[in-house]
Amino acid sequence: MNPTEFDPLEVLTWYSEAGVDIALADEPINRFEEHRQKAEAAARRVEQKPARNTAQPNTPQAPTRPDAAQPPLQQQQTERTLPDANAVAQAMELAKGASTLEELRTAVEGFQGCNLKFTARSTVFADGDPGARLMLIGEAPGRDEDIQGLPFVGPSGQLLNRMLASIGIERSAVYVSNIVPWRPPGNRTPTPAESEICLPFIERHIELAAPDMIMMVGGASCKTLLRSNKGIMSLRGKWQTLQIGDRALPAMPCLHPAYLLRTPNHKALAWNDLLAVQQRLREITTNKETD
Ligand code: URA
Repeated sequence: MNPTEFDPLEVLTWYSEAGVDIALADEPINRFEEHRQKAEAAARRVEQKPARNTAQPNTPQAPTRPDAAQPPLQQQQTERTLPDANAVAQAMELAKGASTLEELRTAVEGFQGCNLKFTARSTVFADGDPGARLMLIGEAPGRDEDIQGLPFVGPSGQLLNRMLASIGIERSAVYVSNIVPWRPPGNRTPTPAESEICLPFIERHIELAAPDMIMMVGGASCKTLLRSNKGIMSLRGKWQTLQIGDRALPAMPCLHPAYLLRTPNHKALAWNDLLAVQQRLREITTNKETD
């Protein structure tokens, strides 16, 4: 290959590894052209800059922003969302109006009030058995989840599957969703406002799926569902109660598998919490059998 040629696949791989893996606007933006224009404008400014202490009052100023006609990208996108309070109110109304999981999915897919929707490829609703006794709620989809449209399918999902298997539970036997159904750009943590906007949907989701027990996977999930500022390290392993509709559900805060991939020496803590979940599930089964 001639040294000036490049393999498009290698370039795409580089973009992907560098985090350039999502389109943020409806129309493609030619960043090379943008860069060229900026460089030209900078060069013009240098040429036109008056020498020190030399008065040149009539020299026109070069434009400082060649792209000034374009509103910034974030502004373009937030303009399409509702103010947060209206978005929460609308999410509540839509969630309340859904009387089945399918209706809820349609409502979430049609909701325009969260800016994350405009940068995500998919609305990631749920995976697994909607009739399961155990429901897991993570934070938000990542890159793989956004591509496949399913929660917890990337590396942290694979670890989650192994964690469940370690207490004798198959992934297909639980129901899995997230606080936020759209991937935040660059996999950042959803902001408190984004989580609050999506909260009515996940609460209704829990109500309609009606599991016996919840696993809150990771600190962001716990903070949002418990409306608490406590850190995951102080919450994990301690049963909490979620009031969902007219039911009080036991909910276990657990370490997030993405955290465990980065901090493997905390897997022992996660294992203890999983054992508590297994024990509680057994108790519920026994109680149901004797009822
Ligand atoms: N992390 C989450 O919290 N949820 C997913 O679906 C994937 C990664």
